[in-house]
Amino acid sequence: MLVSTKKMLEKAEKEHYAVAQININNLEWTKAVLEVSQELNSPVILGVSEGAGKYMGGYKTVVGMVKGMLEELNITVPVSIHLDHGGYDACIKCIEAGFPSIMYDGSHDSIEENLKKTKEIVEMAHAKGITVEAEVGAIGGEEDGKLAAGECADPEECREIAETGIDLLAAGIGNIHGKYPENWAGLSFETLEAVRKATGHLPLVLHGGTGIPEDMVKKSIDMGVCKINVNTECQLAFTAEVRKYIEEGKDLVGKGFDPRKLLKPGTEAIKQTVRDKMEMFGSIGKA
Ligand code: G3H
Ligand code: ZN
Repeated sequence: MLVSTKKMLEKAEKEHYAVAQININNLEWTKAVLEVSQELNSPVILGVSEGAGKYMGGYKTVVGMVKGMLEELNITVPVSIHLDHGGYDACIKCIEAGFPSIMYDGSHDSIEENLKKTKEIVEMAHAKGITVEAEVGAIGGEEDGKLAAGECADPEECREIAETGIDLLAAGIGNIHGKYPENWAGLSFETLEAVRKATGHLPLVLHGGTGIPEDMVKKSIDMGVCKINVNTECQLAFTAEVRKYIEEGKDLVGKGFDPRKLLKPGTEAIKQTVRDKMEMFGSIGKA
């Protein structure tokens, strides 16, 4: 069932769990995530980066594919589709394509520019009942080829962006995309507390969900995070299993070269990663 991200997260905030945003890349990914969500009776958000959207054929294709699967796989748990780290034009395209939810990421611009464009996006999206996430304080690492240094957001800027009418806020709190380095300082709960104070009950989003230790995840949920984004961890799990399949020569036996067989261990690995995240985020049984 395709639902409003805002409503989904209001429930999560009230009941103290987080909904996983699992980024999708193709049909196998989407099917794996939806099947696990149904199996665990958990809500889920399918994240679509600009690059992944393009790879899958375009945003309308993504919406069509997800809607088709919801119907034919009989997925009844709450599901949303969310543009991840979108630019201005991508946001407009997703609004037109029927995404229930978008992220406008203006964190690379000046705060004035970010505020101005976020406000414009909020007006366009809200006119169609679409949920909007914005970002302040660039999240470090690499996302779709865009590099950023990890920052801790300025709570005053968070307050200003909250006033644009956004529904969700991604504020940098020392989190980074991709694998965390050995010497990572961890999440800044001081910043998280200050952001929370500055923005009231605005649902907060934690990006860079790959490899954040469980105690930090749980603490951030206790402090108001109700959406956690995961991308790299599924990719690593998928690739490791496909590599194993090929290295063991399974593609050379019988019809082992059939892509449906070749990709199966990878999609099973995605499923296990999603199960683990839903367990950690406390969303199992919350559909
Ligand atoms: O926006 C997507 C994410 O923040 C995912 O981060 O690739 O580190 O899991 P990750
Ligand atoms: Zn992100």
